[in-house]
Amino acid sequence: MNLLEQIKDNKIPKHIAIIMDGNGRWAKKQGMARIFGHRNALTSVREAVIGASEVGTKAVTLYAFSTENWNRPKLEVDALMTLLTQSLKKEVPEFQKNGVKVNAIGRLTDLPKNAYQTLNNVIDATKNNTKITLTFSLSYGSREEITNCVKKIAEQVTQGSLAIEAIDETTIQQHLYTYNLPDVDLMIRTSGEQRISNYLLWQIAYAELYFTNTLWPDFRREDLYKAIYEYQNRERRFGKTSEQLEGEHEQTI
Ligand code: FPP
Repeated sequence: MNLLEQIKDNKIPKHIAIIMDGNGRWAKKQGMARIFGHRNALTSVREAVIGASEVGTKAVTLYAFSTENWNRPKLEVDALMTLLTQSLKKEVPEFQKNGVKVNAIGRLTDLPKNAYQTLNNVIDATKNNTKITLTFSLSYGSREEITNCVKKIAEQVTQGSLAIEAIDETTIQQHLYTYNLPDVDLMIRTSGEQRISNYLLWQIAYAELYFTNTLWPDFRREDLYKAIYEYQNRERRFGKTSEQLEGEHEQTI
């Protein structure tokens, strides 16, 4: 039986986030410049999105460019922005064919004008697609997102449209860049690093974390299925005991 057949339909992660790491090392291994790794990362993006969509995952969120990535050499930053802009444009027919709704989170106004406009055009062109939401995190940092969220809430309190006592977890969730996405169920990081790197800190509160040594340009559908298979075989307790969960399971069958 192949891996796909072993994946259970009743326990599919609704939202998968991926830290796509290892492009530079992948390129270096072949004696090539880092950008060669980024270019070869696009096949992996397609494989992950189509693979996730096939098993019924409703949202995939990718760490494409962090707030810290602006500190990389200008040549690499420019090449990444060009790659992003060109591939977004090129992929629109595939997005439409596969029902992919494109979304973006982060301080998007930091992006070069051309990238920003292209991104908005693609978001608009794909807004009625419903099979899967593909979110690009661009100029994204979780602490920046939370700071921005606090400012927006404070503004409402100052203006008198929100009472301090009314602030709860839902208020926070609604003011994050991910306000329209469910919590992350599964977070994957490639390339053997075992860190979260300022990614979706609020949203991964109960996520399962999955680390693989595979470098991102080598990541294929089968690697995603491996991660989902492992996710399905872990017990997510949300703070409860195993016995309580068994009781709940018995009540629902
Ligand atoms: C991490 O590898 C990857 C990035 C910082 C950029 C991610 C970009 C892509 C996958 C390609 C373009 C994306 C889109 C969405 C079109 P690294 O460079 O940090 O690798 P290293 O740790 O081996 O140096």
